[in-house]
Amino acid sequence: MNIIIAIDGYSSCGKSTFTKAIAAKLGYTFIDTGAMYRAATLYAMRHHLINADGSVKKEELSAALPLVNIKLVRSAQSGENSVLLNGEDVTEEIRLAGVSDNVSRVSELAPVRELMVAQQRAMGQDKAIVMDGRDIGTVVFPHAELKIFMTASPEIRAQRRYKELVAKGVETSLSEVERNIRQRDAIDENRAVSPLRKADDAVLLDNSYMSIDEQVEWALKLITSTQL
Ligand code: DC
Repeated sequence: MNIIIAIDGYSSCGKSTFTKAIAAKLGYTFIDTGAMYRAATLYAMRHHLINADGSVKKEELSAALPLVNIKLVRSAQSGENSVLLNGEDVTEEIRLAGVSDNVSRVSELAPVRELMVAQQRAMGQDKAIVMDGRDIGTVVFPHAELKIFMTASPEIRAQRRYKELVAKGVETSLSEVERNIRQRDAIDENRAVSPLRKADDAVLLDNSYMSIDEQVEWALKLITSTQL
């Protein structure tokens, strides 16, 4: 039986790694919805729709949304998803610090969320997907068969993210990364539209001290019991 698995949680919790690993085990499609909000943010940055103080030109961005075409394309070779913004591969660019700094402000806008949620629901029509984000179990798929809410301490998340960025050659500091994570947590949890929160029926996974293999083993047991 194919199901929808909704994975929500804080920034830099390893949601995408976890989502990808589970999808690979089950032969399911994985969708990283954060990448969609990041691509919309990159569009806003490139079109000067973000003010110097970080606020977003809401009306202009809302009016431009019909021109924003975001696609997640799976490479058969690598198994990785590429993110296309109006046909251009922006997979790497959406991970840069400039996008991370602005993404929470863009993703709190209702018209942006409506567009993304509609696209995400369409992707889940045939089930057999693992989708990660902030509002998947609460808004996008409130009836998902399995919901997991991930968390880890902010210090541990910052260390993980810092290592990833350094490995990519990005110049930053641990304190800067931790500041960005804490700021995004606060905006994600406090926004008016679809704030980050654990769905009542989601299972909590604190992976502060768990390896990815341990997390996958934990999830597969849960999935087996859900499908019984
Ligand atoms: O998962 P991520 O860190 O790449 O997500 C980037 C941002 O997008 C995050 O700060 C919050 C936002 N986001 C959201 O509001 N809703 C989602 N379903 C996914 C991400």
